[in-house]
Parts: sequence; C-alpha cells; structure tokens
Amino acid sequence: MIRDTGQVTTALRRTDLHASLSHPALQSMTFLNEVANRFPNAISFAPGRPYEESFDIEALHRYLRIFCDHLTHDLAYSEEQVCRTLFQYGRTKGIMHQLISRHLAVDEGIEVDPESIVVTVGCQEALFLVLRALRASEQDVLLAVSPTYVGLTGAARLLDMRVRTVRGGSVGVDIEDLITQIHDARAEGTRPRALYLVPDFSNPTGITLNTKVRRTLLQVAAEERLLLLEDNPYGLLRAKGRAQPTLKALDTQQRVLYFGSLAKTCFPGVRVGYVVADQRVQGSENADGLFADELSKIKSMVTVNTSPISQAVAAGKLLEHNGSLLRANAREIKVYRRNLIRLLNGLEARFASVPGVQWNTPSGGFFVVVTVPFSVDDTLLEHSARRYGVLWTPMNHFYNGDGGRQQLRLSCSLLTVDQIDEGLNRLAALFTEFIR
Ligand SMILES: Cc1ncc(COP(=O)(O)O)c(C=O)c1O
Repeated sequence: MIRDTGQVTTALRRTDLHASLSHPALQSMTFLNEVANRFPNAISFAPGRPYEESFDIEALHRYLRIFCDHLTHDLAYSEEQVCRTLFQYGRTKGIMHQLISRHLAVDEGIEVDPESIVVTVGCQEALFLVLRALRASEQDVLLAVSPTYVGLTGAARLLDMRVRTVRGGSVGVDIEDLITQIHDARAEGTRPRALYLVPDFSNPTGITLNTKVRRTLLQVAAEERLLLLEDNPYGLLRAKGRAQPTLKALDTQQRVLYFGSLAKTCFPGVRVGYVVADQRVQGSENADGLFADELSKIKSMVTVNTSPISQAVAAGKLLEHNGSLLRANAREIKVYRRNLIRLLNGLEARFASVPGVQWNTPSGGFFVVVTVPFSVDDTLLEHSARRYGVLWTPMNHFYNGDGGRQQLRLSCSLLTVDQIDEGLNRLAALFTEFIR
C-alpha cells in the first residue's frame, strides 16, 4: 500500500497467518478485555483476578531480601553467587524448585522430587510446554472437561492439537462420557493423550470433584493409559468444607501432571507457575530421564528461563511463611470466603423465587455459574454494561462448540461486599428486562 507520504508499508493477510489467530478462543480474551476497557466504571463480575488490597510495594523488597538471605545463610552462597543467581541467565527448570516441592508437601500432601518440577512463566507456559511435548503427530488429541478454561483451548489451537470435550456433568467430570470419548477417539484413528481438568473450584464452573470421583478417574486413566493434566490455581482458596486430596497426592503411578500457578496465591504480575512432570521417559539421553527434562528442552527454546527476579520474589513469600502458601494467604482466603458467601446469599435473596434462574454453590474459589431462562451472549453483555453498568462473562466462551448459551459466570474475587450487592441489584434489573 502506498500512503500519501510516499512511504511504502507492508500489510499481511490474516489468512496467511496461523489459523489459530482466527479461532474464537484467541479472540475471546481480547473481546472481554475490550468490553471491560470501554466500560471502566461498570461493576465487574468478569475477571478472575485476585483481591488487590494486599498488594504492597514494600513486600516486594522484603521478599527479595528474604530470598537473598536464604541463599547466603541457608545455602552458603557467596555475594558473587547471589548476584549471578539474580542477574544472569539461569537454570532452565528454575531456581525455586526446592521451595515449590516443600510447599507441595506442606500444603497439598504431594511428595515430589524437586528435579521433576519445571518453574514456568505462569501456569500458562507450563500448559503450552506439556501440550507441545504430547502432540507428537496429527493423531494426538487432547481431552478436556467442558466447559474449559480458554487458555487451555487457546494453547492447543496454537499447537494444532485437537481438543475433544468430555462432559463435566454434576460431579465435575462425567466418567461414562470420558470412556466413550476415549473409545470414539481411538475408533476414529486418533490417540487421546491426556485429559485436562481443574478439579478444585474450577474455572469456569466453580465445581470441585469429590474424592470418590478422583479415585475413579485415576483408575480409568490407568486402564486407558491416559495422562491427567491437573490444573490447580484455586485449590487453596477454600471457603468451606474439608479439602479433597489432589489427584497428584493420590497418584501412585505418575499418571498425573500437576500444574501450579502463583498468580492467585502470590500475585499475577510475578508470572510464576510450574508443572510437576515426574514421569520417566524411556529412550531419553540419560536412561529413564524425567519428562520434566524434556519440557525443559522446549522451555529453553520458548522463554529460556523464568525470570530469576520473579522467582526470588515468589520464593521470598514462600520462605516468609515456612513454605506454606495457605498460611501466606490467610487474609485473602477470608476475603474470598466473605465475598463468595455474600454473592451466594445475594443471589438467593434476589432470585430464589424467579422461575428459570438457578446457580451452583461452589465451596471455594472465585466463580459461580448462573443459568437463566433467556439467551446469553456477547451482545447481551454489551447491553448489560451500557444500560446497567454491570459486567460478567458469557459462559459460551468456555465451550469448544455450542454450549452455555443461557449461562453466565460471575467472579467475586476483586469486589467489595458493597460492590457485590450493587452489582447484583444491577444484574436483577437486567434479568427483569428479559424475564417477562
Ligand atoms: C484454570 C486456570 N489455569 C491457568 C491459568 C493461568 O495461570 P497463570 O496466570 O499462572 O499463567 C488460569 C488463570 O486464570 C486459570 O484460571
């Protein structure tokens, strides 16, 4: 194209770029952020972001100092070594693997060799690395409990990996449908490699799997030679009841790849996550090497290593609380509990007697799903924002095909109780317009 200035500029055609760029999963985030930006004063039940009141600049300095002291006093590093650790390129699998291993033992009852942990740039990178490794050929497909976190669907699209959905149903994963999907996939000549799920306070449904379902899932995975990808960013944020053991804690056969994120339990800006990949890989250079080492090779070509500064900050927070993120988040957990109860009580007070309006009652995490007797889509979201000043997420963004057309996801993590009350009043006004 030639501009008036006579300058020649280059234009690229979308159709000449990777097909994933036109996929709804990749447009979903952009659309939702764009709506939020256009209505900055709306009360937003949309983002799954952590509570902001505990963000504290001083704490960043303190965490960094605690980590440096740990290197000096506990690990006997010289000043030069401490400097190199923070300033240089570093170990591809990360520098806080020992501390993550301790946290997993303390908070989750998961005992793993620190060598099987890869520290990543958020959990999102870990998902990408694992899918990259598992998609060896076109035949490899991923199973995912539906509705699914968009970041997973998006990562799979980037890698040209087909995602086949498994019904979540009322218990979080429909085991019968899982077996059907595995068999159907094989009958079609494809190879189901793994099932992705968020067993605790799922994004987007808020559902938690009970222990019996978890054990059955592990049994099916063993029988069907399937890996389980357990993504657990919200598990520590329990509002009521007893914690269920993670799939990884129950896993005696290395069937589970466990994904952790420090976005909600430290803060998102730290961009630290990890994957536990303790599976043995036959035929690797060092006999029976770890899957973590194969992932590390991919990471070395994607992000080289996770920022040591970020890891130092996250590690400092862990050290300050003797390895427990549960203790580190005592205050936040109270806020999330308070908010979730306020949201559920508020829904009850406003909609208990409204025919066709239903919602689930998660026992923790950030999300609640509301079902309504009218159609829910992006157009309704825009209308809700413009006319009523309230934002939420249409559930159909989390379905790989058609689904969730009469559902919306409410997130309560970022709001005050007054905002929750006012937001629900606005939502009630929107519902009244459409329920006649
Ligand atoms: C289920 C799930 N997995 C992964 C992530 C990404 O985590 P991170 O910010 O650590 O990349 C999120 C973020 O919201 C999530 O909800």
